[in-house]
Amino acid sequence: MRNFEFSKSLNSLPPYLFAEIDRQKKELRDKGVKFIDFSIGDPDVSAPQGVVNTLFEAAKLKENQKYALDQGKLNFRSAIKDWTKKRFGVSVDADKEILPLIGSKEGLVHFPLAFVNKGDYVLIPSPGYPGYRGAAIFSGAKVYEMPLLEKNNFLPDLERIPVSMRNKAKIIYVNYPNNPTSVLAPMDFLKKLVEFCSQYGIILAYDNAYSEIYFEEKPHSIFEVEGAREIAIEFHSLSKTFCMTGFRVGWAAGNENLVKGLLKVKTNFDSGIFGAIQDAGAAALLKEDAYADNVRRIFKERRDFFVQNIKRKLFSQVYADATFYVWAKLPRKSKSSIDFCKHLLEDKRIVVTPGLGFGKYGEGFIRFALTAEKDIIKEAISSL
Ligand SMILES: Cc1ncc(COP(=O)(O)O)c(C=O)c1O
Repeated sequence: MRNFEFSKSLNSLPPYLFAEIDRQKKELRDKGVKFIDFSIGDPDVSAPQGVVNTLFEAAKLKENQKYALDQGKLNFRSAIKDWTKKRFGVSVDADKEILPLIGSKEGLVHFPLAFVNKGDYVLIPSPGYPGYRGAAIFSGAKVYEMPLLEKNNFLPDLERIPVSMRNKAKIIYVNYPNNPTSVLAPMDFLKKLVEFCSQYGIILAYDNAYSEIYFEEKPHSIFEVEGAREIAIEFHSLSKTFCMTGFRVGWAAGNENLVKGLLKVKTNFDSGIFGAIQDAGAAALLKEDAYADNVRRIFKERRDFFVQNIKRKLFSQVYADATFYVWAKLPRKSKSSIDFCKHLLEDKRIVVTPGLGFGKYGEGFIRFALTAEKDIIKEAISSL
């Protein structure tokens, strides 16, 4: 086999964190070794039965068996519009300001292709969801990492971003409730963020994939902030709220210009989302409020149990404000996050994600995803 060299952009990407962890897990499985898996952001709960039924019925319709419209089906866009109004009190135009996606990752990663020119900067959080880095690099942008530090409640310190960088930045990715740190963004920060982006002409790509996985305070939409519509696009997912990760469905909402740019890119990459999946997405948004309440109840119970039992045992601090992640701070004299995870894997047969995998400012922490049942969480804690 001839060994063709990968492109410079592909070669400049770090190994995709979750792919690497999957590889390690496969190795264990192949050897027949049992382990507890807290590494994956994929809810273990089944998708709503009503949604599955809708998908089944919708798949029989001839219209859904053909190429879908690139801009998505009107019934799905209308359901998104109604849900957004009900949940955030925000009005969005179903024709011009909403774009269904093949999962929010697809939109988040394609988005810079619409607006970035070679050499522009994209600002990404560190630690942060790994997809943003790839998105920036594939679009030819340079990456500037914004540290999310514990002393700043894991919010980026906008004042510390050099003015020269503010002027070179085209897009800023921000994600709250946050993966991996679990924290929410307070309204005063969101206002500052919108002001900052407006002043420097930076597009705000606001990743709200976990907007419905909250326990106390309800997370905001960026469009609750005055002026946000001028500069922001917000990404949503059905993956976490309705445990529909495998369905691959989400959406972007934002001003007409930003949505139009992303649609133009997508038109060149894909040919719409399977219509039955969009019908299933509409059914979830319109009919599954009680299901979403139950998902929050399940994750809250796990979160409370985990935090109450683990805190003083191993970690100097744990954060578990929203999402289904726990961001645990390693003791000061501890090994690196990678070595700590290796120790958990080899000695305790527990798979967790090292903070460093989310960017250099994630070092010193590890992430637990509470996507396993309470009994399993109990078993893991007692073995630690
Ligand atoms: C912060 C964040 N954004 C986006 C996504 C992508 O979700 P999906 O593509 O399933 O909608 C994830 C998935 O884990 C995530 O953690």
